[in-house]
Amino acid sequence: MSTWLLTGGAGYIGSHVLAALRAAGHDAVVLDDLSTGLTSRLPDDVELLRHDLLEPGLPDVLTDLTRRRDVDGVVHLAAKKSVPESVAVPLDYYEHNVGGTVAMLRAAATAGIGRFVYSSSAAVYGETSAEPVAEEHPTLPTSPYGETKLAGEWAVRRYAEAEGLVWTALRYFNVAGSASAALADRGATNLLPLVMRAVDTGRPVQVFGDDWPTPDGTCLRDYVHVEDLAEAHVAAAAALLEGRSPGALNVGRNEGTSVLEVIRAVEEARGRPVPYEIVARRPGDPARVVADASRIATVLGWRASRGIAAMAG
Ligand code: WQD
Repeated sequence: MSTWLLTGGAGYIGSHVLAALRAAGHDAVVLDDLSTGLTSRLPDDVELLRHDLLEPGLPDVLTDLTRRRDVDGVVHLAAKKSVPESVAVPLDYYEHNVGGTVAMLRAAATAGIGRFVYSSSAAVYGETSAEPVAEEHPTLPTSPYGETKLAGEWAVRRYAEAEGLVWTALRYFNVAGSASAALADRGATNLLPLVMRAVDTGRPVQVFGDDWPTPDGTCLRDYVHVEDLAEAHVAAAAALLEGRSPGALNVGRNEGTSVLEVIRAVEEARGRPVPYEIVARRPGDPARVVADASRIATVLGWRASRGIAAMAG
């Protein structure tokens, strides 16, 4: 059994990581400012430290925690995650995502915590010239959000090299699904929740273009179930406990699913038609973003076990 400090643990992904860590026999303490996180996602017996990463007293919060409990490592998910918002208010993203990661690294070091799992994104690649995209692919993010995730990775890597931390950065592709309604992504602007909402409201979901160079003309993405993603964090934690330091790893399924295929999967799962309309392409959307997920399989022994049907259900 080990204990992990989980930042952003009251969020959509964080609450699934929390459940997976506990299911695997680990313990976790959550650090969350509840700006978007919900206490309703946390089991009663989980300790919540309600703090902002940018508080000057963060190192003291962690030092106090490590006096009371043995903390083996940090799983750092707390961040802002909207691509369009990051274009509108880029400094908020630099401040919270890069500044927050730097603050967390310093606080962890002050408290003597030497393992760091960092939540990264496929957005670090930007326009991809290879299909599927492997970790060596050039990282040229096209949004401030992607830039801050990449800068965070750099900070973690450089600090780890200088201080002898072990680390990994998990580059999530398109995360979807939930373990339960209570843990679902609220108010999401991503495709799967929007398609589900269209079934419930009868208002059509917009399909952003059907003239892309793909088999059915709609964009391809690599959708990964949030419970599979959560298990990738457990595998990462185990590797770090063994003293390994895997670096950057894609978390995807190696499979492209089109917007229309997502719609068909939801129709199948719900037994009702999905109202949709084809509209213009969304500026900035790449035609396809699919992971080469072979490194994580080799290094962590992790593979996704749930498909698009489970995410649509
Ligand atoms: C998926 C597909 C759209 C909405 C973004 C970020 C990424 C990550 C996940 C991180 C695309 C199409 C969507 C709609 C549609 N963010 N679509 N109608 O853009 O692939 O990835 O979210 O934390 O970094 O870039 O995700 O869910 O917005 O879109 O047709 O109303 O669905 O064109 O092909 P995206 P998405």
